[in-house]
Amino acid sequence: MNNDTILIIGAAGNNGVATIEALTNKQNTNSTIRAAVRSVEKANQLKQKFPSIETVLIDLDKPDTLTEAYSGVTKVFMIPGNIEDREGHAKNAIDAAVKANTVKQFLFYSVFGAEYESILFSRQFRAGEKYLEQSGLNYTHLRTIFFQENFFGWADGIKQGGLYFGVRDGRFAPLNVADIGEMAANILTTSGHDNKAYNITGPELLSGADMAKVFTNVTGKEVAYVSPTTEQTLDSLLSTGWAEWQAQGMLELFEVFATDQAAIISPDGEKLLGRPLTTLQEFVTNNKAAFI
Ligand SMILES: NC(=O)c1ccc[n+]([C@@H]2O[C@H](COP(=O)([O-])OP(=O)(O)OC[C@H]3O[C@@H](n4cnc5c(N)ncnc54)[C@H](OP(=O)(O)O)[C@@H]3O)[C@@H](O)[C@H]2O)c1
Repeated sequence: MNNDTILIIGAAGNNGVATIEALTNKQNTNSTIRAAVRSVEKANQLKQKFPSIETVLIDLDKPDTLTEAYSGVTKVFMIPGNIEDREGHAKNAIDAAVKANTVKQFLFYSVFGAEYESILFSRQFRAGEKYLEQSGLNYTHLRTIFFQENFFGWADGIKQGGLYFGVRDGRFAPLNVADIGEMAANILTTSGHDNKAYNITGPELLSGADMAKVFTNVTGKEVAYVSPTTEQTLDSLLSTGWAEWQAQGMLELFEVFATDQAAIISPDGEKLLGRPLTTLQEFVTNNKAAFI
């Protein structure tokens, strides 16, 4: 039985909620789950969904707000948000963990390919990884690739018969967020993860055309694959409210996919879960209503 106090930073986000879900489903732990969020509204929403957890208010831009959140904490899962200064947020969370002097494991959410530092997103996350590695804390990096859930953002086009996804003929293996949450929960409740980096992809390499076929098969309506130009993708991202730095970062990521630089299936996720990972076909089937 574990009696840890596990602090989850970024708890109200997609991966935070998936991790809390997986942790609260575990029978073999007495751990306290403390969800760190930045508004009372988010705290109340989480508490309603997961009555057994603690919640605490923090703001990663204000390091002073972290001291109380870290009180008695033995394990941390830090999920940097989708903001430009991911490095600054990671540093504040790591500094607070060192100061608390009770943290025996720091799990850091990162991106697949961070170690290459070849694009903006990988440099942002790798900066946090490096800071953590020299902090003296026991660290684990969880480096994840493009989520299957991102396709909710492409649902309008899919409903109208087109997957407009600018990765040309490149292939990569999209990953399920619930699977990531379970991996994080397993890392936080078992030993053997100190000073390791896990590279997490989905279970199958798919091209844009393969993905369109999955949507066609599940919805029963023809979904054509269209790979827009870089300019069209940029216009589309900016017009749907993406910040310039995020949109440029996404274009870089798409170029990595388009040139098969991430055309890899890593075994790490399956090893962490002890079962096969969720396929895109399963994900789309489970969420069919969103795509028809
Ligand atoms: N989409 C992908 O395929 C993909 C793949 C790999 C990595 N990533 C990146 O991985 C990270 C996790 O993904 P996700 O989908 O779980 O992100 P998410 O849903 O955006 O969750 C991030 C959380 O960070 C919190 N946050 C932001 N600024 C904060 C601050 N100043 N103080 C405290 N908390 C703050 C947000 O709080 P609020 O709820 O209050 O906004 C949010 O709950 C993100 O950086 C994402 O961009 C994405």
